[in-house]
Amino acid sequence: MKPVFTGVHSVNWYLKYVGLPITVGVAIYALFTQIANKRRRAALRGKVVVITGASSGIGEALAHAFYDEGSKVVLAARRKTELERVKKDLQSKKLSIPAQEPVCIELDLADLDHLEDFTQKVYSACGCIDILINNGGISHRGNILHSKMEVFKQIMTINYFGSVALTKAILPKMVEKKSGHIVFISSVQGLIAIPDRAAYAASKHAIQAFGDSLRAEMHQHNVNVTMVSPGYIVTAISLNALSPSGEKHGVMDTSTASGFTPEYTAEKILNSVVRKENDLIVSQFVPKLAIFIRHFAPSIYHYIMKKRANPTKLSEK
Ligand SMILES: NC(=O)c1ccc[n+]([C@@H]2O[C@H](COP(=O)([O-])OP(=O)(O)OC[C@H]3O[C@@H](n4cnc5c(N)ncnc54)[C@H](OP(=O)(O)O)[C@@H]3O)[C@@H](O)[C@H]2O)c1
Ligand SMILES: *[C@@H]1O[C@H](CO)[C@@H](O)[C@H](O)[C@H]1NC(C)=O
Repeated sequence: MKPVFTGVHSVNWYLKYVGLPITVGVAIYALFTQIANKRRRAALRGKVVVITGASSGIGEALAHAFYDEGSKVVLAARRKTELERVKKDLQSKKLSIPAQEPVCIELDLADLDHLEDFTQKVYSACGCIDILINNGGISHRGNILHSKMEVFKQIMTINYFGSVALTKAILPKMVEKKSGHIVFISSVQGLIAIPDRAAYAASKHAIQAFGDSLRAEMHQHNVNVTMVSPGYIVTAISLNALSPSGEKHGVMDTSTASGFTPEYTAEKILNSVVRKENDLIVSQFVPKLAIFIRHFAPSIYHYIMKKRANPTKLSEK
């Protein structure tokens, strides 16, 4: 009897019976994903989307992405002039669908007592909030031994308590309406911690935990929660980071400079939000591998991190 699989075939055979079906399959899948995403994106028209940290970087790119889909974007951050610049940039675009006028509202996430007032301002301007994107945040550079306690407090206040307070201020109306979506822009450093970023990694780990609890509690109220963990993205994050004494770090890190663009990142986030995904990691391969190693081979992870933190390497930086 002739065996079904003889072992060796010509290149043409492989192209025809393996290459072609795979290519066609992938193309059809890509096409359907595109069509499905486009349909889901249509649901964003007229939706009120509050974006914190919309004056720069990922938040600014998110403002463009949601504005392009016809959402009413609320741009929030401390620098009013930068928010107005973003608004002007948005309004100078030509959309093929009706555009919603962006709203700029000043917001300081460190000012925990005034986040309720901020929420009221959004309601007066837009009536409701459909999606909250907790994106505003700040990083730092420096080891635990030499960083001031003030830096730890400030990072935790802005990255964690600020997002918690804002989320809490906005939740009651979402629960009442039985619809809504809370998005957190955490970080790969919300899943693994590296040396010289203790305060930042701790604040992002905290928000990941908060998000998981929130998702479970909100299920009965039909409110969705998406946790986004970006890797390296080209933004001003390292320029705006705090030094061990709490001053501006003011240096563009090479790892950040060679990261993904904010526009690419915002596209990924938008697709994840319309699909109401629980988690999204937007990252290069190495940070993803690091997350894997931390969980499945922790001793290797700790070894690499000790190397990374060694003082000779630090003094070169
Ligand atoms: N870039 C990356 O590699 C990376 C990686 C992972 C996660 N992330 C996260 O992505 C988010 C956005 O950062 P980015 O990379 O786009 O950096 P960025 O360009 O420095 O933007 C940070 C944004 O946060 C706002 N912000 C800072 N402190 C604030 C405060 N006290 N109150 C209100 N808004 C405040 C800033 O606006 P004002 O200064 O006008 O207030 C700015 O719009 C952050 O949460 C960051 O941790 C970034
Ligand atoms: C959004 O959240 C609701 C409530 O938890 C849940 O029933 C629904 O499945 C979620 N949507 C998706 C696409 O996961």
